Amino acid sequence: MIQWNPIDVCDWGRHFEFSEAYPEGARPKRIVISPAQPVQHVIKPDWQYMFKLSDPRYPEQFWCELIAYQIGLLLNVPVPPAHAAYDSLTGECGSLSEWFYEPGVDMFYAAGYFFYRDIRNFDKEKGAQHNLQTAMQLNKEFIGDNQIFDFWSMMLFDCVIGNTDRHQENWGYLVNLSPNSKSVARRKKENFSIRLQFAPWFDNGTSLGYQLLPHKFNNWTDHRLDGFITKGTHHIRFALDRLEQIGHVESMRFIAEHNPKVRQLLIKRLKDFEFGQLERVLDRLVELPMPIDARLTRDRADFVLRLTSRRLQLIMENLNERN
Ligand SMILES: Nc1ncnc2c1ncn2[C@@H]1O[C@H](COP(=O)(O)OP(=O)(O)OP(=O)(O)O)[C@@H](O)[C@H]1O
Ligand SMILES: [Mg+2]
Repeated sequence: MIQWNPIDVCDWGRHFEFSEAYPEGARPKRIVISPAQPVQHVIKPDWQYMFKLSDPRYPEQFWCELIAYQIGLLLNVPVPPAHAAYDSLTGECGSLSEWFYEPGVDMFYAAGYFFYRDIRNFDKEKGAQHNLQTAMQLNKEFIGDNQIFDFWSMMLFDCVIGNTDRHQENWGYLVNLSPNSKSVARRKKENFSIRLQFAPWFDNGTSLGYQLLPHKFNNWTDHRLDGFITKGTHHIRFALDRLEQIGHVESMRFIAEHNPKVRQLLIKRLKDFEFGQLERVLDRLVELPMPIDARLTRDRADFVLRLTSRRLQLIMENLNERN
């Protein structure tokens, strides 16, 4: 879903605890609560949202979060909806990310929680032992064998947007507890059933060349662009005995070699990706009447399109490479 107007959060509700600042993570942010009857069709009524500003060094960064959401939609990978927003009282501009669970009903556990449980002396600061092998074990334990399709769809998504920051706190599991009927409770001797699934893939703004300043866009040769893309890596490492971050493009070759079924799924996701739709979405975002200094510039939108188009090509080539 895409918005027609930027959203002013100045009169949105305040969170009982985190209305001033949310303590976690690198970028300034706070929780806001939507009105019971929101004007915009994209907003869920009376619902919690994270209003997240850009890193002050990169004022346009919040756009990458929004564009990443749109790319998630086009790839059919679940990402919490994110919209362009501002606060007309404070002048702040940022992304508004829909809370992906109902507090008190579902629970969210970041993957880090289990990495710290299973790996002694885990370096939380750098996430230096955040690795695919342990991730696969945890995912199998909690979700089952089919986890691999969803997990690698995320890896594809991160590769398409060039996300370098999917650390162990930036993905995780949603736990849903639902009461069993009396007969089921009696038979299973459990009052509740537990269901685990991946949380939608959130925190996607460290991507899409967010760190590149606008005056540089025109100087990029194709060669330089390819260098930038192929140097990019996921945060995650291969394995505990191979603590080397896996390259974005390299990861696609890796999974294609190891799992033909996942390879097939990723190829399908790429084939279904409508690039023309991404172009139209970016046109719309460029047109959004955000406060004047905070608009998405045509130059940045064009650069994101060029970068993404080349990434898609390189990913497809690598998925198709045969040894
Ligand atoms: N839409 C959402 N729904 C539920 N929880 C969220 C949502 N967005 C953020 N959070 C929670 O808030 C935390 C901080 O948000 P987020 O990861 O987006 O911020 P950040 O400052 O960019 O962090 P980082 O240091 O990883 O870059 C997340 O780890 C997650 O627990
Ligand atoms: Mg985060």
